[in-house]
Amino acid sequence: MQHEQLLIVDFGSQVTKLIARRVREAGVYSEIHPFNKVDAAFLKSFNPKAIILSGGPSSVTEANSPRADKMVFELGVPVLGICYGQQTMCEQLGGAVESSDEREFGRADLNVLEKSRLFEGLSDIERVWMSHGDRVSKIPQGFEIIAKSDNAPFAAIEDESRNFYGVQFHPEVVHTVNGAKILRNFTHNIAGFRGDWTMAAFKDEAITAIKAQVGDGKVICGLSGGVDSSVAAVLIHEAIGDQLTCVYVDTGMMRKGESDQVVSLFEKHYKINLIHVDAEDQFLSLLEGVSDPEEKRKIIGGTFIDIFEREAKKVGGAKFLAQGTLYPDVIESVSFDGGPSVTIKSHHNVGGLPERMDMELVEPLRELFKDEVRALGQELGLHKDFVERHPFPGPGLAIRCPGVITKDRLDILREADAVYLDQIRKHGLYNDIWQAFAVLLPVQTVGVMGDGRTYEYVLALRAVTSTDGMTADYYPYSHEFLSETATRIINECRGVNRVVYDVTSKPPGTIEWE
Ligand code: XMP
Repeated sequence: MQHEQLLIVDFGSQVTKLIARRVREAGVYSEIHPFNKVDAAFLKSFNPKAIILSGGPSSVTEANSPRADKMVFELGVPVLGICYGQQTMCEQLGGAVESSDEREFGRADLNVLEKSRLFEGLSDIERVWMSHGDRVSKIPQGFEIIAKSDNAPFAAIEDESRNFYGVQFHPEVVHTVNGAKILRNFTHNIAGFRGDWTMAAFKDEAITAIKAQVGDGKVICGLSGGVDSSVAAVLIHEAIGDQLTCVYVDTGMMRKGESDQVVSLFEKHYKINLIHVDAEDQFLSLLEGVSDPEEKRKIIGGTFIDIFEREAKKVGGAKFLAQGTLYPDVIESVSFDGGPSVTIKSHHNVGGLPERMDMELVEPLRELFKDEVRALGQELGLHKDFVERHPFPGPGLAIRCPGVITKDRLDILREADAVYLDQIRKHGLYNDIWQAFAVLLPVQTVGVMGDGRTYEYVLALRAVTSTDGMTADYYPYSHEFLSETATRIINECRGVNRVVYDVTSKPPGTIEWE
């Protein structure tokens, strides 16, 4: 790629990914790399036009805490240090950092003291988001203070001659009201980026790259009906047309109408070669009597691979396997304790597929965040309703049907879920919500309808807001919405006589119930 690039040196902050996203939203291509991989050789080959040092959980005052390679400050490119990034920059350039009793977590008012280029277009008082215990106590030679807050006398500093900037607060989080503007001031005003990262340009480059990689070979792509695999398939189809064959395995765990939609969009509209496998019976019989969530995932993932492999073999001589891998899956995370993390859910639906099939991977979305994939989808002409779709897990409705799965229970869930989503769309809430779905509990309760007693299932509704699925808040529906939806579901869906709303955030809950 020939884009101007910004490098983000990661010190392990929870929100490093947000820096990359904000920077890319301003039209600047950025990549995240762990601090211990960024050395002189790496910097030479990456050739950044500017560098941002992220925050992180360590303390500069501790022995052996991470540092930026000194070359970062010798390249002659603008550097912005955020939180820990500011502190290590100060320490490395001759300033000092102290642990402070006056910690600052959450909202703070930033008092802008100087007309810095970093703060162009901002007011004298800005609402920012702080999260720090340590703070800079002495700034290095050549720096001056450009903003302070109540508990951070060096809340923002600059060395204008060297284009070094440091902020104690987090411009990348939405709670810093003008954070995106501050980052844009850094990339455009200070570092002089043109803003050449657009999805239109990306599309053309990706098509060229796919053609170069594949030549006249054949490519197989698994379609799930989700945004990532769909956008990947349409993009690859634009590049190589009939050399692409998509395989769609209907596990019987899909939402109402989903399989028809996939077939009509890809086969009828895009005229993409599509193998549609109806494997509902096979999946249902393998899942019979299984109630453990991880067991369900294992069975679905394994069976999916078996079927996919069998179908792919029918496309003689295909050497390439396309996947909708995204940038968040590619970013190497910084691990400080080196210990393995606990597996909460396996999430591996098709893990191991490429190795087993001995195929070369085509992953045209590897550099993109989800919102960029959506923008690319629109660029490719995919309908808005389609690219804005909520994420849907590989095991599908199987993990939204706690306990044993039966066709009957899946059908009840499918109907109720469809009414729920219809309500969300009708009320214009779909795009405010990260993910919404119904869960059919293995619990029956007594109700009364007309003059009769009912004894039917409880349906739980879930809706969350999130930026990446790692943390989430429950969505605050109005009572009117909830009661209207519950009434519709109970009236329209056989088998449900009680509806409850899940008000658990993540953590401590997870988004899915299983
Ligand atoms: P949790 O439930 O872990 O979900 O908070 C976070 C996000 O991941 C999705 N999810 C899955 N996706 N296979 C998937 O492809 C899975 O087994 C799986 N389990 C959860 C979930 O829908 C949410 O978007």
